[in-house]
Amino acid sequence: MCARRVSAKVFLCALLGLGIAGYAQSPSNVLSFARVTGVTPLSNGVELHDGELVMRITALRDDVLRIRAGRKGALPEDASWAVLPEARSASVAVTQDTDAAVAGFHTGALRVSVSKATGLLTLSDLSGKVLQQDAEPIQFEGDRLHLAKTMPSDEHYFGLGDKTGAFDRRGQAFRLWNTDAYAWQESTDPLYKSIPFYLSYRAGTTLGVLIDNTWPSSFDFGKTLAGTVQYRAESGPADIYLLYGPSAKQVLASYAWLTGPTPLPPLWALGFQQSRFSYMTQARVLEVAGRLRSDRIPADAIYTDIDYQDKNRPFSINTTTYPDMPGMVAALHAEHFHVVAITDLHIANVHYPPFDSGVAGGHFVKNPDGTLYVGPVWPGPSVFPDFTRQQTRLWWGTLYKDFDHMGIDGFWNDMNEPSVFIAHLTIPDDVVHHIDEPGFVTRTATHREVHNVYGMENSRATYDGQLALRPDVRPFVLTRASYAGGQRYAATWTGDNSATWNHLRLTTSMLKNLGLSGFSLAGADVGGYAGTPTTELLTKWIEVGAFQPIDRDHAEKGTGDHEPWVGGVEQEDIRRHFIETRYKLLPYLYSVMEENTRTGLPLLRPLFLEFPDAAPDRHPLDVDLDASGEFLVGPDILVAAPPFFDKTDDYDAKLPSSGWYDFWTGARVDKAEGKVATGGLQPEAAKGPVLSVVHLHPELAKLPVFVRPGAILPLAPLMQSTAERPQGPLTLRVYPGPECAGQLYQDDGTSFAYKHGEFLRMKFACDASAKDGSLTLHIGKHEGSYPAWWKEIVVEVEGVSKAPASVTVNGRAGKVTSSGNAIVVTVPDGGGGVEVVLQE
Ligand code: GLC
Repeated sequence: MCARRVSAKVFLCALLGLGIAGYAQSPSNVLSFARVTGVTPLSNGVELHDGELVMRITALRDDVLRIRAGRKGALPEDASWAVLPEARSASVAVTQDTDAAVAGFHTGALRVSVSKATGLLTLSDLSGKVLQQDAEPIQFEGDRLHLAKTMPSDEHYFGLGDKTGAFDRRGQAFRLWNTDAYAWQESTDPLYKSIPFYLSYRAGTTLGVLIDNTWPSSFDFGKTLAGTVQYRAESGPADIYLLYGPSAKQVLASYAWLTGPTPLPPLWALGFQQSRFSYMTQARVLEVAGRLRSDRIPADAIYTDIDYQDKNRPFSINTTTYPDMPGMVAALHAEHFHVVAITDLHIANVHYPPFDSGVAGGHFVKNPDGTLYVGPVWPGPSVFPDFTRQQTRLWWGTLYKDFDHMGIDGFWNDMNEPSVFIAHLTIPDDVVHHIDEPGFVTRTATHREVHNVYGMENSRATYDGQLALRPDVRPFVLTRASYAGGQRYAATWTGDNSATWNHLRLTTSMLKNLGLSGFSLAGADVGGYAGTPTTELLTKWIEVGAFQPIDRDHAEKGTGDHEPWVGGVEQEDIRRHFIETRYKLLPYLYSVMEENTRTGLPLLRPLFLEFPDAAPDRHPLDVDLDASGEFLVGPDILVAAPPFFDKTDDYDAKLPSSGWYDFWTGARVDKAEGKVATGGLQPEAAKGPVLSVVHLHPELAKLPVFVRPGAILPLAPLMQSTAERPQGPLTLRVYPGPECAGQLYQDDGTSFAYKHGEFLRMKFACDASAKDGSLTLHIGKHEGSYPAWWKEIVVEVEGVSKAPASVTVNGRAGKVTSSGNAIVVTVPDGGGGVEVVLQE
């Protein structure tokens, strides 16, 4: 029996979802995998047939499956921009479960069964818990693809990159079509990136779903059809990866395995970054940098936006306004700044070296008639590199030679959706690209197919180009557009936001969702891009930005200045305090970023990632309005920003367990009263996943930040730049509580020497013994060969008011002092490990 035709209703709906006009009304070429007519068992899965339709379901690992389907008996090409070849070709043996009613198999973790009568697929764990279920079978209409899944009422959806709107995607629909969305608003869609990956999360059980298709597509989480998650693509492969947790952390680790982790960034990328469109002269750049230093506002990077270029032409310099760019870079380096220069992807359509060499190498995309495609962007008429060609990416990388030579440290790939200043906003659909890439069949492709990976391949070309030119320097690339897997090449930001309180609020859910989509290194323009922030908004934004992964102050041309000193000394003092706090926390932030390269866990985390059991019904806490302003920085720090920044009312923040500490004072937060309290060395044992509530009063100069009981945070002495070597001891802030532990990772911050053992890793643990009233802190020995900057460690045990009766350091009597809510012991650290015992 051949594949059956399905109703026209489904496809009308599909096209409404994609917003595509000109849809052919005839459903005659609609095929639905609506029954199983043939089953071929495979060692790692099963292949199913329904007439001319074929579906192959394989296990890459026990907990990672891949589903591919196609027409005319043919599976789609086994190639991907997103998924690493080694992951794609991984395979485990499965046990076949096909019987009279179902076709399927199970792995060590998952069971797949496809009803022979309906073609509907059910994925469950081995206990029978359903993880995903088809609401309709896979459908094709010509080249179009439609998937529909059931949508349990308590399931939540996260991911899809920088899409705005509520954090939970439930009830929302999104298009994937990378778009230059200048001054986007909360309801704007699509935005700059297309990351077709989401987590479905139900009472702590998580399934990751990657649909690896670059064509215009859409995700609809029950918006147009209640109770149904729908996916539609205009063309391209049905190539789906299912990543089982059950924890969200495991899904993120699997996603990093599948698409590659974020490489370890240079340490300076975590410093404060100052930018503007544009600092119009070299003198102004130096003036801003000088003021940051003279006002003692720690900072690591300064950006040059398009006006440093000659007539906005990428890879050129306006030597009138920037008469000595190498001298400027050298002067900034001498002041411990790093320089990031914008290098947009469009090349001016005039004779200059990038254009001439690009034309000679056939590196620009062409119209169907073979002429160069020329479209207007910042430089005027421009041409566009063919980034899906390996040779073009190699050529692109060489364009950086002069900038690398003058020491520019990082590069900013903007406008790479790509943006074109025409009504269509981008390159026309029929412009011809080449796919000429190891692992792919060599062929031409329309812009429509390549569009969503174009920005990622631009940033890839830049990243790889940097590695080729400076093999021992970690590249820093900032990209605006990207696709799944783009975290391998670049950090990102949320594009042209606005200087409003609402936009500050939106950064939280956007950065959480980016982190859940592989992009740990992400930020939003601090202060807002479009419009001039009020003094108060800028202050608050700098406070919040200090706890976000990329902390870059940036502004549009024509807006008022918004560097940290703007608005007067009082405001500057508040802002400096927060940026200084970020700098003291750099050992912690950098250690979390290093962890990210191994685990895929982002720096900025939703609460549910660390505390899936916090709510009695195990729903993700972040979806509650009263917790919606909160986010975690790594596993231990919780920023309890209000749900709405412009409301002056008091608010209650939810803490996802009991016994938290106030980051600023070290005092323990009393659960019952919502007041701070201090006590002895033995904190009340935390009572499992019991939520606590803190009553907070918003104040401009303050941002409530809390620390998880059981955390041990490493802090550095204050520096003005990461290029300085810290002077003074390492501080370990110990917050007694359950599972008390911490870690520290250090290296030279710039090179790849860490890959050859030149790192320093330490583990910490604390142990409160209720029996004898002691608290023991274990400071691990130094692992790796990178030397510590310190000789002493200042141990601060937080939330303790009473001085202990005795303290021993490696068995010898030590000295203890108290400071605020902490007791302080300074211990020598020669690298062999230290044990500190405090006795009540
Ligand atoms: C785009 C970017 C913005 C930049 C401007 C000029 O709008 O999003 O950040 O300043 O172009 O390069």
